[in-house]
Amino acid sequence: MKCRKCCQKAIINMRQHRLAMCKEHFLDWVPEQVERFIHKYQMFSRQEQILIAVSGGKDSLALWDILFRLGFESDGLYIGLGIDEGIHYSEKSGQLAEAFANTRKLRLLTVNMRDEYGETIPQIADRTTRGQGKPCSVCGLSKRYIMNRIARQGGYHVLATGHNLDDEVAVLFGNTLNWEVSFMSRQSPVLEANHPGLVRKVKPLFRFSEREVAAYALLRGIDYIYEECPHAVGSKSIFYKEILNRMEEKRPGSKLIFYLSFLKAKENGLFANHAQEQVLSLNTCSSCGQPTTASGECSFCRIMLKQ
Ligand code: AMP
Ligand code: FES
Ligand code: ZN
Ligand code: ZN
Repeated sequence: MKCRKCCQKAIINMRQHRLAMCKEHFLDWVPEQVERFIHKYQMFSRQEQILIAVSGGKDSLALWDILFRLGFESDGLYIGLGIDEGIHYSEKSGQLAEAFANTRKLRLLTVNMRDEYGETIPQIADRTTRGQGKPCSVCGLSKRYIMNRIARQGGYHVLATGHNLDDEVAVLFGNTLNWEVSFMSRQSPVLEANHPGLVRKVKPLFRFSEREVAAYALLRGIDYIYEECPHAVGSKSIFYKEILNRMEEKRPGSKLIFYLSFLKAKENGLFANHAQEQVLSLNTCSSCGQPTTASGECSFCRIMLKQ
């Protein structure tokens, strides 16, 4: 297989794009495409301050690398979740995020759950009904809460996460199976700050498959955590990703078509009524002042105040 651009030996073949590339051209192509998508989906401009949520994994570190190379002003935010039983997942991922920032002289903000809230995610999960069995739900809501809070407090215009196509398609697949229309109406590569106290959220890697992002991170020599969070083992999202990969294997491009067709349907008004309801039903948390769909206290304050 030869590189489409220079006819040297290709190191990656992207069947869904009918495109093969050598290392050098692939490493140029990825940032070029990211810049194109930032513009096409109106994610942010060069004048805006960007906060990137970095987990120490390949996606968010690759995203930081790309935005840095493209000359966007961005700081990182790492949330220390305290998931350290067994493989020391949080400790290792925090060190990798820090090392990445230090070698490039980038600014990394850190919120440590244990220091700031007195409890780790597994500890909160253990004492709350929501967390029984698995801490993932408590973890997800805490991360979303902290990301928004830090982005707002720091005066950032936009919060970027490393979600890739496989992540987005797995969520869409799950929501479609359960016909979760209100979740579908909110799923988007760009979530505008449509309520006071909310920051715009963007996913600049949403059109790249997990394989493409992993190849980029490896070829760039980015040191990232290879292990998955130990609590992700056996999750629905991993199960959906396996099914979708089997489909992709037989029909390259299915994942991208599924997601882009969904965005098109949304643009054509398929979920218009639900989107409107979401905007109207946002309230302000009586305890912390952050926006919430709940009336009274937001879910994060509720789990933190519940003894
Ligand atoms: P996940 O929810 O683990 O699939 O991660 C999705 C995205 O959320 C990552 O690409 C990061 O941008 C962000 N993220 C996940 N975990 C953390 C963390 N501990 N600190 C900061 N950002 C995170
Ligand atoms: Fe939150 Fe796994 S990263 S429970
Ligand atoms: Zn080439
Ligand atoms: Zn609150």
